Amino acid sequence: MIQKVKGTFDVYGDKGKKILYIKDVFKALTEKYNYEYVETPIFESSELFHRGVGESTDIVTKETYDFKDRGDRNITLRPEGTAGVVRSFVENKMYANGALPYKTWYFGPMFRYERPQSGRFRQFNQFGVEVFGSDDPMMDAEVISVAVNIYKILGLKGIKVNINSLGDSSSRDAYRNALIEHFRPHIDGFCEDCKERFNKNPLRILDCKIDKDKEVLTNAPKTIDYLNEESKQHFDKVKEYLDAVGVEYVVNPSVVRGLDYYTHTVFEVEADIPSFGSQNVLCGGGRYNGLVENIGGPKVSGVGYALGFERLLNALEAENIELDYNNGIDVYVAPMSENEKTYALEITNDLRMSGFKTEIDYMGRKLPANFKQADRLNATYIIIIGEEELKNNILTIKNNKTKQEYKIETKELINFLDDNIEEE
Ligand code: HAM
Repeated sequence: MIQKVKGTFDVYGDKGKKILYIKDVFKALTEKYNYEYVETPIFESSELFHRGVGESTDIVTKETYDFKDRGDRNITLRPEGTAGVVRSFVENKMYANGALPYKTWYFGPMFRYERPQSGRFRQFNQFGVEVFGSDDPMMDAEVISVAVNIYKILGLKGIKVNINSLGDSSSRDAYRNALIEHFRPHIDGFCEDCKERFNKNPLRILDCKIDKDKEVLTNAPKTIDYLNEESKQHFDKVKEYLDAVGVEYVVNPSVVRGLDYYTHTVFEVEADIPSFGSQNVLCGGGRYNGLVENIGGPKVSGVGYALGFERLLNALEAENIELDYNNGIDVYVAPMSENEKTYALEITNDLRMSGFKTEIDYMGRKLPANFKQADRLNATYIIIIGEEELKNNILTIKNNKTKQEYKIETKELINFLDDNIEEE
């Protein structure tokens, strides 16, 4: 039998219901903040991610799915959403006509060739937001509050918000020099990747998975000690605005993020749930003031974040949170024989078009089996249509919860259900 590719998964049953439910929650939340929905292609020119995510990142050097298409173009399956949204922002000139800030949200599959384990897949889904055109620290705080409020709305308690600042480009340069001086005497003892990172981008040594426990790494200089006055002020304001919107956080200097585009604020929300497992970063993001220019656009700043959907599901499960998705149907229609089917189908269609979630028996079940099926589908009402009902234009309708039975005229059906079924 052909099986799914390693690191991928199928969505079916309750997981499908949860995805749609959470997507609705995310849509409703981002609407409140006035974000606009965007979609960008799942594959893009490889160059976009080299320039966008960064040549020295693990994502680009080790994890992308790259291929040549039949026209000999270098194509990459997107490993993350930001670079594509930035490309779309620039290509569609969304910065024109005073339309800034441009605030967007997205949902979709991302692809990374990582070692699969619980909470880590090769195809996974991200929700994200990207906002363009405002340098105001209020925007950094807004994005972090979107990230935190989605967990709040879903009822997740065990979260810890870590924030940090990398500063502007001059602060980053000062920090980079400090890191080089710090690592130089020890670099011979590091892994081959880190030796390369030392020359290209020493910041990436900080997220090395092999050398992570080395003392020289744990006592490396901290970004916040190298912030210039302007960067410090920006970070102080972010903290002030986070307090204003009621987001609790800790300043954690070890958060540097694994992508190259960040400036100023970076943040991660981790699951603070006992026995959650090692893949506990639920979401991450930050400000990226040079990225739009880097991808060929004007000097416009950006800030955003993305949430791992599967890790969110794991966290909800770990806290035994039941989502309130509609798990039943309004009406189950049971024709007693072949003769009543056309009439039953007409009624079913009317119900569906009037907004009632309705199912009909397609299996030719006998009455007791139909009652069982209505239970299985968690139906609120069952309509039984036999010879007599058809002849007299009446319906037998039974409340499947109270077991009370009514005889009503067919033309009264919609009114009856309007009066008796609560709006979702
Ligand atoms: P990231 O930290 O690489 O950031 O990914 C964001 C989230 O996606 C992670 O916190 C994690 O929950 C989830 N995730 C990442 N890799 C996997 C995987 N292999 N399997 C399952 N879940 C995964 C970004 O992607 C940035 N684009 C975020 C951003 C947006 N920054 C600014 N704007």
